Amino acid sequence: MIGLITFLILTAGGLIFLIIKLKKHKSLYPFIPFRYDFRKRRDTFLRILKLLDDTKSKIIIETGTSRKGLKGSKSNGAATIVFGKWAKLNKAHVYSVDISMESIVACEAEVKKQNLMQNITIHHSDSIEFLKNFKQKVDFLYLDSYDYSLDKEVQIASQKHHLNEFKAIENKLHKNSIIMIDDCDLSGGGKGKLVIEYMLQKDWIIDMEKYQVILLNKHFKLDLNSYQQ
Ligand SMILES: C[S@@+](CC[C@H](N)C(=O)[O-])C[C@H]1O[C@@H](n2cnc3c(N)ncnc32)[C@H](O)[C@@H]1O
Repeated sequence: MIGLITFLILTAGGLIFLIIKLKKHKSLYPFIPFRYDFRKRRDTFLRILKLLDDTKSKIIIETGTSRKGLKGSKSNGAATIVFGKWAKLNKAHVYSVDISMESIVACEAEVKKQNLMQNITIHHSDSIEFLKNFKQKVDFLYLDSYDYSLDKEVQIASQKHHLNEFKAIENKLHKNSIIMIDDCDLSGGGKGKLVIEYMLQKDWIIDMEKYQVILLNKHFKLDLNSYQQ
């Protein structure tokens, strides 16, 4: 009898644990296998994938590469792989830039594993230098480099860096460019604090504000003719 009660309690506990885990799990399935949990970034990633479809984006830039590959979906975001996969399906290209060779080597291994080499190029550089020298118009800009932390000085340096990234590429953006900034909903204002303040004074408005923030241009307009084919 005691054995049966223990068994029932353990089974019920296990079930409750599984239900809670499943409720928290936010996947991008069927785009990315169900087991990868994108948690606080799932909704903004879904919105970005829709915007990329709508605008038929071709040139994507990411600052700060996916140093943990797809396994980092919950912690770092695994954006290089998510956007690279979209790029492969839509004949687009992701240019990811990182200052750390270690991050690049790790990401390149995942890019190979996912067979995305034709659609992702990873550059070894400081992101601001890379952006200053980028020659093409940018359809989607994702800012996620200089790591944020609890240290106030690091927070300010990270915020300034992301602002300067935006300024370095600003003249390559157009009215249908999409901008997303990672790690925003954090104490001290997150990576986006200064760059979002700057953008809001210019021609940009917030499209979605969660852990990540998406901004679009005030003059953003879809070409409806392209839907009548
Ligand atoms: C949070 S990770 C990027 C995560 C990635 N976007 C993802 O979705 O998985 C931040 C990366 O930014 C890089 N980084 C930091 N400072 C940088 C800089 N000045 N220029 C370029 N990359 C930088 C780090 O080496 C690190 O690999």
